[in-house]
Amino acid sequence: MIELADEYGTPLFVYDEEHLRARCREAVAAFGEGVAYAGKAFLTTAMARLVFEEGMHLDVASSGELFVALNAGVPAERIVHHGNNKTVVELAMTMEAGTGRIVVDSFDEIARIEGLVAEGAVPPKVLVRVTPGIEAHTHEYLQTGIADSKFGFGLATGDAAAAVAMTRESPAMDLVGIHAHIGSQVYDVESFRKAVETLARFAVPLDLPELSIGGGLGVAYVAGEEAPSITEWAQAVHEAAVAAGITARVLAEPGRAIAAGAAVTLYTVGTIKEIPGVRTYVSVDGGMSDNPRPSLYGSGYEAFLPRSVGADRPKHVRIVGSHCESGDIIVAEASVPDDLLVGDVLATPVTGAYGHSMGSNYNMFRRPPVVFVRDGDARLVVRRETYEDLVRRDV
Ligand code: LLP
Repeated sequence: MIELADEYGTPLFVYDEEHLRARCREAVAAFGEGVAYAGKAFLTTAMARLVFEEGMHLDVASSGELFVALNAGVPAERIVHHGNNKTVVELAMTMEAGTGRIVVDSFDEIARIEGLVAEGAVPPKVLVRVTPGIEAHTHEYLQTGIADSKFGFGLATGDAAAAVAMTRESPAMDLVGIHAHIGSQVYDVESFRKAVETLARFAVPLDLPELSIGGGLGVAYVAGEEAPSITEWAQAVHEAAVAAGITARVLAEPGRAIAAGAAVTLYTVGTIKEIPGVRTYVSVDGGMSDNPRPSLYGSGYEAFLPRSVGADRPKHVRIVGSHCESGDIIVAEASVPDDLLVGDVLATPVTGAYGHSMGSNYNMFRRPPVVFVRDGDARLVVRRETYEDLVRRDV
């Protein structure tokens, strides 16, 4: 890690390619062909290719993600297209490409697809996204009678049934299944069982060939946390499906569970400020522009020093970024070795999902490069942004 920091500079995303591949293979073994990687967690050309090579399909949630996937060479029939507000242009682009599944999310979208088919587009295969009224949180779920969500069609309101009737009857699309996504960073497979049971009451009588339970499997970020494996998740889902009489092929779309644990972010410690009686601030050379999750969700991370990985970490500090605001926190309550120094390379593990993909140019920071490591070799898959990149779109 220290060599990589030297060679590529910091901040730097370092992915263990074998870890990514192993999680993809686990997902394919657990759910079978058709299981999709949710690209929103982490998508680059190299990642799209890796996912394809390992036999997964790819879930895209925008025309931009669609472009990256197609441009990387992912066959369109392996793509699942999501979004609660797909524009006519986006739908035209995806239908023209021949996207394998479009997950229909609104009555407006149904009308848009019908309009495009009337103009000559080929009718796509679609899933209807339903909101089962189960909102999964990190450790608990709460069941709501009325689905308050911008996504999908509510089961409780009858919208889901209406959408199924419309898409089934429409010659402009081929309804092949039902889709639901109950939330993200869900630790408890019970939430998924519950979702499957609820979905079964709706989906079984429809007798459609596919049922996707979306993504959402949580991962452990900090010491003491535990999360089910993809295999355990699939087992729970399949058991619940069998028990509920589901005969459809059950599919899923893990994002975080594939990518999160594969990466560490490397930073360089720039300043250490001890405020007596208050706390110690350790500033690193990245921040909310490479990992906005602590400031957005209050998410926790660990930190360690690659120069002494196994060292005790008795010192309590706050690791912050270099952005111009106090909320720019990387690790709010970090434990670090006593001898932490300015100039040290510091690593935060489990940053492979929703860090790079949610990164920004805030304060005109240049976004970090991404390196894939495998069998002792490293390859650059995304270069660091340059100052010129920062003005490239300016006219
Ligand atoms: N499928 C659908 C329809 C989704 O909306 C999502 C995530 C996934 C699959 C993948 O979920 P995963 O397996 O990664 O949990 N930015 C947040 C996470 C937002 C997830 C949105 N949808 C975070 O950093 O925690």
